[in-house]
Amino acid sequence: VNLQDCNTFGLPAVAATLVHIEEAADVRRVVDHPELGRSPKFILGGGSNIVFTRDLAATVLKVEIRGLRIVEERADAVIVEAGAGERWHDLVAWTLDQGLGGLENLALIPGTVGAAPVQNIGAYGLELADRFDSLDAVDLVSGRAITLDRMRCRFGYRDSVFKQDLAGKSVITRVRLRLPRPWRPVLEYLDLQRKCEDAGFIEGRLPSARQVFDWVCEIRRAKLPDPAVIGNAGSFFKNPVVTPEQCRDIIARDPHLVHYPMADGQFKLAAGWLIDACGWKGKSVGAAGVYERQALVLVNRGGARGGEVMTLARAIQESVYGRFGIRLEPEPIVI
Ligand code: EPU
Repeated sequence: VNLQDCNTFGLPAVAATLVHIEEAADVRRVVDHPELGRSPKFILGGGSNIVFTRDLAATVLKVEIRGLRIVEERADAVIVEAGAGERWHDLVAWTLDQGLGGLENLALIPGTVGAAPVQNIGAYGLELADRFDSLDAVDLVSGRAITLDRMRCRFGYRDSVFKQDLAGKSVITRVRLRLPRPWRPVLEYLDLQRKCEDAGFIEGRLPSARQVFDWVCEIRRAKLPDPAVIGNAGSFFKNPVVTPEQCRDIIARDPHLVHYPMADGQFKLAAGWLIDACGWKGKSVGAAGVYERQALVLVNRGGARGGEVMTLARAIQESVYGRFGIRLEPEPIVI
């Protein structure tokens, strides 16, 4: 089975077997199957956060579980549930169509609902974890259904239990989100504050959820490549976290360093700025390139192989380490 069309980077890779998962029971059928049950398995959603550098000697489970519904309306929140195979952006748009705000900052993030908790997707001041209620999954060894609440998912920055202890061990089938009532906009991110000011929203007058959704879509379209047009997997590195001392040292040499204070006293640095400062924006190595409008995004300029992308990634890591003493960590899952 060719996986080139199953990953947004458009990288070539082949898998032994691909099974379409349309309901939780399909996972149990794979687990109980005499041959597939014993083979290694690989869980694939929209393939938007993955870099294939080789073929897969595994049974690929392509999660295509559908369904969008409101499960509970409480005084303080509405709980919505989505099948893991729904596209994340479709869920965001659907909640707004139902008159429910709360997910608008996460508009236009590529990938599926089931992949969203794995890396705790986040953008424009909001993380999935902020709106997460619970999820259903099926254990890939026992075939048993499990439900995990927020605590048990152990969400961190672009991290969760599904990238750690449970990596590759359970298939997320349904996700429930908690949309707080009353709705309040999240407008702390600088790009959104600018939109507010430009549109004349001042103290006391707040934009609607739909308005924030439209702004987020505009901001993303302006600086992030559409994977349907240019292959990519979003941010290629995580934004590194440094101590106040490290941050001060770098600012002493590079006063323009983009940095954000965190609750625990450390500082998060903009990896895109670090890469840009090393002169990588718009550069290419073979068919792999650094996007012209956002240096944190690596792109497939046409026919790139995973190896080329990783060669470029390593060259970037070396130059950022050489200049700033910071080791950038890849954000997508590298196979
Ligand atoms: N910057 C540069 N040059 C660049 C890119 C960025 O100077 O080439 C500077 C910008 O001027 C800005 C700062 O770096 O001041 C931050 O850039 P941006 O707002 O584009 O956000 P980011 O930190 O690069 C993160 C997430 C994105 C998310 C945005 C918005 C990570 C790894 N990335 O990017 O998530 O959409 O914030 O919240 O945390 C993803 O995970 O795939 C992703 C796209």
